[in-house]
Amino acid sequence: MRDTLHASCFTICALLLCAALFAAPASAGNWGASYIPNVPLVTQDGQTVRLYDDLIKNKIVLINFMYAGCKQVCPLATARMAQVQKELGDHVGRDIFLYSITLDPEHDTPEVLKKHAEAFHAGPGWLFLTGTPDDIAIVRYKLGERSKSLTEHNNGVMAGNGATGEWERTSLFEDTGKLALVLLNMDPAFRAKRGSQPGTAYAEMTAIPYVSQAGQALFVKACSSCHTIGQGDHVGPDLQGVTSRRDRAWLSQFLQAPNLMRAKKDPIAVALSAKFPGVLMPNLGLSETDVGDLLAYLDMRTARLAAPAHAEAKVP
Ligand code: HEC
Repeated sequence: MRDTLHASCFTICALLLCAALFAAPASAGNWGASYIPNVPLVTQDGQTVRLYDDLIKNKIVLINFMYAGCKQVCPLATARMAQVQKELGDHVGRDIFLYSITLDPEHDTPEVLKKHAEAFHAGPGWLFLTGTPDDIAIVRYKLGERSKSLTEHNNGVMAGNGATGEWERTSLFEDTGKLALVLLNMDPAFRAKRGSQPGTAYAEMTAIPYVSQAGQALFVKACSSCHTIGQGDHVGPDLQGVTSRRDRAWLSQFLQAPNLMRAKKDPIAVALSAKFPGVLMPNLGLSETDVGDLLAYLDMRTARLAAPAHAEAKVP
């Protein structure tokens, strides 16, 4: 038990608290046509594209590595890509493109990736890509994803401008508004314009939500990319009232190990995953204390939603 808790602490720490370590942007130098492999990849719609010629040359891009069957942190990373997509609005698909490349091409066929993309509401400027295992291996090596096993892969992302050859490693656990700004800043014209009006453009993107409670801080970082409380289903179900609709012990077990609940064929877990195809609630390595904080926060938010409107308005 102690070992499990220890491991959980480590995971959540690595995910949330230590995010700053790999959030520090590291310049990857100048990568042009001679560095980036022009291998063929296949999109979630079954279209074959060339990595350099079709996806990178003359474009600003954000690239992450994932796989649809990941039961741990990667779905949260992909949900954060979805938030970046939202922050960038109509830039995505026009001058900025998002690419999620699978590390598991054997399982992630275009059909599997299509379902996954739909679960995250991926718009037209966000491609999910697969290819032959050899081509994927070259791409991940060149773009710096060099972990030895699938479960170990890092959640760093590469931001780059194919026209200028400028690349930067950053993290999806960085504030997503800041990450959007990193991409906008990849455009020399945007930088020049912004320089003349300091602090005006996109200032609101970096707003840090007001946090008054442990559970709220954790919810904002680890859950809110996939769940709303009272604003409808998103990537996962609306969590308003979940603490009264489900048994405490069930919630606690599900939050700590949704993958084990599905493996045990728990009827509620199975029904939920059928209702939300293409994505699974990740095992985020939450400790018992984390779960207690989260459930207290969900209780508090649900109670406020039931109270007169002005009470809820105070909660960000
Ligand atoms: C990558 C997206 C994602 C993230 C991140 C995520 N969830 Fe989920 N969650 C889901 C999906 C999808 C389901 C539906 C069940 C399934 O498919 O496994 C779900 C189901 C749930 C349920 C069951 C809801 C019900 O109606 O019984 C709860 C509770 C829940 N999540 C809480 C959380 C909390 C708390 C966090 C943050 C610590 C979190 N989730 C993070 C996607 C996510």
